[in-house]
Amino acid sequence: MLSTVIPVAGLGTRSLPASKVIPKEMLPVFDRPIIQYIVEESIQSGASNIIFVTSKGKTAIEDHFDISFELEHLLERTKKTDLYKGIHALSREISIQSVRQKEQLGLGHAVLMAKNLIHTGPFGVLLGDDMIDSNPAGLKQLTNTYDLVKKNQAADIGVVMLSEVPDSEVSKYGICEIKSGTDFQITRCVEKPQPHETKSRFAILGRYLLPLDTFEILESQSRGALGEIQLTDALNALAKQGRLFGCVLKGQRFDAGDRLGFLKANIHYYLKSPMAQDVKNFLKEILK
Ligand code: G1P
Repeated sequence: MLSTVIPVAGLGTRSLPASKVIPKEMLPVFDRPIIQYIVEESIQSGASNIIFVTSKGKTAIEDHFDISFELEHLLERTKKTDLYKGIHALSREISIQSVRQKEQLGLGHAVLMAKNLIHTGPFGVLLGDDMIDSNPAGLKQLTNTYDLVKKNQAADIGVVMLSEVPDSEVSKYGICEIKSGTDFQITRCVEKPQPHETKSRFAILGRYLLPLDTFEILESQSRGALGEIQLTDALNALAKQGRLFGCVLKGQRFDAGDRLGFLKANIHYYLKSPMAQDVKNFLKEILK
């Protein structure tokens, strides 16, 4: 059984003022909130146990995946069959649990909150700011890599999603150095370095498949960059033991926490929808 952790406790300062009252994960991209894409990716990747790490003011996220009898009844009565089917299925096909992160002590700390709810590894971590449109689904690409690499590895391993970034973006990400001549075995991970501090340009996107003992590593870890318990430091510990591998994303990724990234994600999903031609006509019209 694959469990996934979806940290949603962050304040979303990059999305203010839109995210002052509405959690940033609930902002809509085309016809659904960002968090629904992340949950759907989890399901497509085989997860049956999804854990939200939440905080004050985030109950709308849990409500979104709960059963709404009034709404379902209304949609059924008014014969809005497609809407009814979508909403009915989503709230029933998954088991979602929530755990609170009472203090914001970093991404590693957020993941650690899920420790008591996960009993088998590897488990997935998906960050809501990174929206991934790909086939196979983002996290599924990690489980595929895991299955391939694990055949030749006795130890429990982790896999992270990577993508190359330009020098100007190195300091926005966790960066992984790769052992040459290997299938993306990672030798070192460093959180948000300056471009001169590492030769690598392989950035971690927000998808991780981690061995169960990651929780122990996080528990014993001292605070890292920005005074926070960084997930990247736990990855570095796995890398030092030769237990961490990279998987380069095959697909598209949008940084939904960034204004331009959010707009790009919207345009992308609108252009994949039945409304695509109307959107193209409108864009042509305003760009004249
Ligand atoms: C987090 C991680 C970072 C990773 C990034 C991906 O950073 O700490 O290692 O590269 O997500 O989006 P954040 O964007 O939350 O600052």
